[in-house]
Amino acid sequence: MKKFSFFISIIILGFTSRAEGQNSSLIKPGEIWPDTEGKHINAHGGGILHYKGTYYWFGESRLPRTEKDRTMYGVSCYSSTDLLNWKNEGLALRVINDTSSLLQPGCVIERPKVIYNKKTKKFVTWFHHELKGQGYRAAMTGVAASNNITGPYEYIRSLRPNAGVWPVNFPAGFKNISVNESDLKGKPAERIKAVKEGLYLRRDFTGGQMARDMTLFVDRNGKAYHIHSSEENMTLHFSELTDDYLDFTGIYYRVLPAESNEAPAIFFAKGKYYMFSSGTTGWKPNPARLAVADKMTGEWKSLGNPCRGTEEENRITFGSQSTFVLSPKDKKNIFIFMGDRWTPENLADSRYIWLPVEWENGVPVIKWYREWNIMELK
Ligand code: GAL
Repeated sequence: MKKFSFFISIIILGFTSRAEGQNSSLIKPGEIWPDTEGKHINAHGGGILHYKGTYYWFGESRLPRTEKDRTMYGVSCYSSTDLLNWKNEGLALRVINDTSSLLQPGCVIERPKVIYNKKTKKFVTWFHHELKGQGYRAAMTGVAASNNITGPYEYIRSLRPNAGVWPVNFPAGFKNISVNESDLKGKPAERIKAVKEGLYLRRDFTGGQMARDMTLFVDRNGKAYHIHSSEENMTLHFSELTDDYLDFTGIYYRVLPAESNEAPAIFFAKGKYYMFSSGTTGWKPNPARLAVADKMTGEWKSLGNPCRGTEEENRITFGSQSTFVLSPKDKKNIFIFMGDRWTPENLADSRYIWLPVEWENGVPVIKWYREWNIMELK
């Protein structure tokens, strides 16, 4: 069908593999992806920023099993002009070797995203930040900035956002409900209702809202949003950033309350905002979700699972979890789904699942290709 065949050239067997030469234009989801030095790219849970003709891929630099030096951990940066051949630009942000810093070795840095602020001319990164020795309890977001895209990024602070402010779309009648969490044990339906009505939002009102899986999105008017899993990962918060992108304005919206979305990845296409996300099963893949809205601030409506594969493939999003949607600069209305296939026992070996976003009856969908030709995106 014309609609689907419009940009994919599939599987040219015998084509030179990427490992063998620089000229291959094939993306091979799930395989080792060597950088220009031949090492598997280490930029997990990542995102891509296009700047002055070059793409910069930022992600979690996971310590390879053999690496004992924990100061080598942080946010990695790779550059490329063709989205295929990536040069390692080193660590853009690294942990700080000082036990008084929240960013000390042993902390967790996940899902970093970088945006460019045209007014301040600074590159700003936000990332999910968990503190050393505290598992995933801190649920904070951290921010760092740099005058150079590749870094070094200077760490500014980490916080739980939106302390002392209610979401714009939170009904006034829910602000004073009193529910005891222990009364909800063994009553899943009642718990969901209580979460929808702000159980955890009220609990964290004073200290700031939880911020775990996250992404950033700069809207067409330049306004940036920090999108994060909050309320014990059960509700997404879409929070406005200040004009310099370094802080929260205190204006935020709850999205899909009590629906347990993680791994948000947002894009604007054909006049609408779309969001891929996942459910909450840790490193294990689960069925992807798709939601749509007319405005960033909602209302967001679920469109179900965007995967169009076998039942098993759809159940595990082709063995991946979303992290970002890339729009190659010179190609209007063309998008690439970027996901991670996690290897929890050796996170550095986790693989990248890049697949073209296709359209089916006006809705973005994802199909599996063992390999596909990025040069033929059009
Ligand atoms: C996933 C999340 C990952 C990581 C992992 C830890 O749900 O998307 O970014 O935090 O949990 O178990």
